[in-house]
Amino acid sequence: MNTHLMVSDAEHFRIDYEINPYMDTGIQPDAVAAVAEHDTIVEAHRRAGRTVERMPSDPGCPDMVFTANAALVRRGRAVLGRPPAPRADEMAHYRRWLEGRGIEVLDAPYAFSGQGDALPCGEILLAGYGWRTDPRMHEFLGERLGYDVVPLRTVDRRWYDLDLAVAVIGNPHTLAWCPEALDRPSRRRIRNLGLELIEVSVDEAERFALNLISDGDTVTMTEGAPRLAATLRGRGLRVVELPTTELAKGGGGVRCTALTLE
Ligand code: ARG
Repeated sequence: MNTHLMVSDAEHFRIDYEINPYMDTGIQPDAVAAVAEHDTIVEAHRRAGRTVERMPSDPGCPDMVFTANAALVRRGRAVLGRPPAPRADEMAHYRRWLEGRGIEVLDAPYAFSGQGDALPCGEILLAGYGWRTDPRMHEFLGERLGYDVVPLRTVDRRWYDLDLAVAVIGNPHTLAWCPEALDRPSRRRIRNLGLELIEVSVDEAERFALNLISDGDTVTMTEGAPRLAATLRGRGLRVVELPTTELAKGGGGVRCTALTLE
């Protein structure tokens, strides 16, 4: 899992609007540091043996570094994201890129945060809702992409996308999650999946601890969450911790910067 990724770049990354509580137009990323942060993440994927394809960002799309929101892709088919209005212009680029790879692209009939709110775990799809994804998307995703959908509602705008609150570590056996980020029925649903669960504190989750990419052997994550990193190492995983302070100004981390293609 997560062995074939599509990324963009941080060349045009800016905070031009505020669509999540981490964004503040008064606090801009350092342009040079942001590009370096992103390049380091891409390099870490390659070192872990993952295939990374790059799609250049559009100068008019300051959030395009966060390609996870582009779509959810499975077996040659993609459901395109349907993000808040300020990010709408990105979608034509993603559509063209995906179609250029022979991937069939379906439009989302309702608001949909792409892979930001849709975490595949084997045949299961952990599907977030409450902020950026309309719950009516769940049936659509289940039908069109062939998943058993587990709906999970996050309780606060800090978790505007599910990939800030839940992370798939080992396919299909282990999840890391922040229980406080989910409502009670969702917590129950996670606990009933029969998976191994690693709990992450609110303070580490707020520092984008769960916004990580795991291929089951190597976990690429922020350096802001030493407790989770230690837990994962204790389970025999290779853990690569990277700076994500600039991306954090846009409300994202490692996971947000890559769309999984396989
Ligand atoms: N500024 C971006 C937005 O608000 C960040 C997206 C982060 N992506 C994610 N998968 N959580 O849309």
